[in-house]
Amino acid sequence: MSLHNEIQKKAAEHLWLNRPWVILTGAGISTESGIPDFRSPQTGLWNQYDPMEILSTEVLFNQPELFYKIGFPVLMQFKQARPNLAHGILAGWESRGIVKGVITQNIDSLHIEAGSKRVLEIHGHLRTAHCMKCLRTISIEKLESFVRDVQIPPRCRCGGILRPDVVLFGDMLPSSFEQATKLVQKFPLLVIGSSLQVSPANLIPSLAEKLMIINLEETPFDKKAAFVLNGKASTMLHFLDEEIKKLEEKA
Ligand code: APR
Repeated sequence: MSLHNEIQKKAAEHLWLNRPWVILTGAGISTESGIPDFRSPQTGLWNQYDPMEILSTEVLFNQPELFYKIGFPVLMQFKQARPNLAHGILAGWESRGIVKGVITQNIDSLHIEAGSKRVLEIHGHLRTAHCMKCLRTISIEKLESFVRDVQIPPRCRCGGILRPDVVLFGDMLPSSFEQATKLVQKFPLLVIGSSLQVSPANLIPSLAEKLMIINLEETPFDKKAAFVLNGKASTMLHFLDEEIKKLEEKA
């Protein structure tokens, strides 16, 4: 067995022995569903757009036409995707007592669609939108229809501007972030597919006592992690799942 596989085997044992784990996912777990991540060289979204320019409260409040002409279509591409093997394995691990819950920076709802029950979406989601004046909630499909009918910026019947329920640059983080920081102080943390460069999301791994990382590239937290598996999320999780199934049979 190669050293590489030996390490992955030991990582699987570590996962099994210290279960249940809290999972923190970033855009890297959804690239295999066809959604570009943000910071991978060449393919990352922020190589094409300046996030502060298009997905910020500054632009939404002061240039809603720019937000809805440029930013909104970028957001809506996240809704085309379907869960991949990695999302599916994590949902299975939750039902097998290996995962306590998933904290995700992703707004694509793929963990929920894959069957994960306990999901904390700390950057919001793309299922609904709300009026910034009267706070009425509507479905994102309704908001999309307003934008498609070139009602830009889309307005509520009270006259207020409507916005998607994602966390934009400049927004306060939702209450799920505080829940996430509490959860990660009680259970070991496995990070999957995040550069861990964005604060305050990267406060989460700094609070973890036990840390494991699965990522294509290195992260600022690699030195803190007991195991760092550099590779694709679905490939790594599939290998770990096969090893854990052997341990489950022996248990
Ligand atoms: N498997 C594992 N890792 C992957 C894969 C893959 N298939 N594809 C990409 N990666 C890794 C990349 O190497 C990168 O380190 O996932 C990481 C993705 O990092 P980012 O693009 O920075 O995405 P993320 O960490 O989720 O960004 C956090 O920044 O712009 C904000 O709100 C946005 O939620 C986002 C936040």
